[in-house]
Amino acid sequence: MVAVQTPLRSFDELPGPPGLPLLGNLLELRFEKFHRQLEQWADTYGPIYRLRIGPRRVLVISDADAIKRMHRERPDLFRRTRALQACTDEMRLKGVFSSEGEDWRRQRKIVAMALNTAHLKPFYPKLRVITERLMRRWQRAADSAAPVDLCRDLMRFTVDVTTQLAFGIDFNTLETQGPVIQQNLDKVFPVLNFRVNAPFPYWRYLRLPRDRALDRALGDLEGQVDEIIADVRRRMAADRSLYEAPTNFLEAMIAAQEAEGIGFSDADIFANVCTLLLAGEDTTANTIAWTVNFFIEHPEHYARARAEVDAVIAPEALPARIEQTGEMPFIEAFYSEAMRLKPVAPLNAMEPLEDVDLCGYLIPRGTAITMLNRRIANQEAHFGHATDFDPERWLAPAETRGCPHDTSTFLPFGTGPRFCPGRNLALLQIRTVLAMLCRNFDIGLADPTQRVEEKLAFTMMPTNLVVRMRRRELASAEA
Ligand code: HEM
Repeated sequence: MVAVQTPLRSFDELPGPPGLPLLGNLLELRFEKFHRQLEQWADTYGPIYRLRIGPRRVLVISDADAIKRMHRERPDLFRRTRALQACTDEMRLKGVFSSEGEDWRRQRKIVAMALNTAHLKPFYPKLRVITERLMRRWQRAADSAAPVDLCRDLMRFTVDVTTQLAFGIDFNTLETQGPVIQQNLDKVFPVLNFRVNAPFPYWRYLRLPRDRALDRALGDLEGQVDEIIADVRRRMAADRSLYEAPTNFLEAMIAAQEAEGIGFSDADIFANVCTLLLAGEDTTANTIAWTVNFFIEHPEHYARARAEVDAVIAPEALPARIEQTGEMPFIEAFYSEAMRLKPVAPLNAMEPLEDVDLCGYLIPRGTAITMLNRRIANQEAHFGHATDFDPERWLAPAETRGCPHDTSTFLPFGTGPRFCPGRNLALLQIRTVLAMLCRNFDIGLADPTQRVEEKLAFTMMPTNLVVRMRRRELASAEA
């Protein structure tokens, strides 16, 4: 029997919110809550729908199989959006995240090598020193009863870790007062989030205050990053063996610049230094912040996590050896559940390089597609009692679980050839900081009347997460 093929439906047949002439759905979208609005529309219009932002047609998809396929079929059939590439190009940030094709392949190779798990073990003593600095910072805040802006402190931590691992430089922004590199990095993501979704690139013709603030931040960042690169070049000139055996990402890029056939330009090096700073900073800091917020909301889980940490690391204040960070299954279950409900990347965006069939629709090449990655991990069909915060689900054996637990739909780090190369570094930081926190501090919101909410600024961060730390009474706890 010959299978009868249903003809593909066209883009225009897709359901979607109606919108206004010319503006489309623009007025219904607030960029800081963009993801929430798209998730709500998926409740109404289903797993594949269309919308319009001014003249731009956008496809929104929350079908798990289609999302996984699109992630897998890169870079040949799908790419990141041209809007992202254009915006990062004009900011001089065309690094591994926004490059495509061959350009991407050669950059990805060197980034993946530099962030490889094999480098994490020898790096752990340095990560421990940086975590100790964070602990001392929080101890000072506890002693003076000063409120702590959790995301900001954690961003200092993550920048110190990235610069140490990837560039071999001890920035120590945790113990530095005054202007620091994060203040410039902070300005990039919100503007990028706005620009990649904007209906019209007005900033190419007219600079508003926010564009001028970005220009200043990028100018300062350029100075700071050029200094980092110059430092490393000096170090390598003094020790030529580093060209043969580079010890970190930046040395490897500079060495490759001289090697035949690879041909990294100064602009490639600059863009990738910025890319690693940006990709490693907000993501990891905000993931830890969301997890801590769940600890604040669930003191019973905090007590359990603390007992687990005590059993593994006492009498030390933080894990002495990297292996210990992998011996805390409840902590791992807890942050996994936090990432399922509050992933810092709830969306991903791509476009097809050819016309493609997605869920029975013919989607023309070049169509901007937003994928609702959080939504697929928050559906009953994939995770039972999906909206509950339940770390236990990650620990229960499959035969006793009694409800779906489809980890293939859990994509906090993406998947396929472009999945996050910093995943293992990020998980190591998350485990080390959470262990240090549980072991040393009691924690609560500085103002419990303030609601902690989601804000999308390229990554999804918690607002109002200002906390008070209190030193834990270790002596009595261990008596
Ligand atoms: C909890 C922390 C982190 C989360 C949740 C996260 C998440 C992600 C996601 C969702 C992507 C896109 C993946 C895709 O398109 O399939 C990505 C890409 C990327 N991440 Fe991360 N990330 C984190 C930490 C880091 C760190 C610490 C670094 C490095 C210092 C890093 C470097 C990168 C790079 C370079 C890319 C681009 C990869 C490519 O396009 O080939 N990330 N990350």
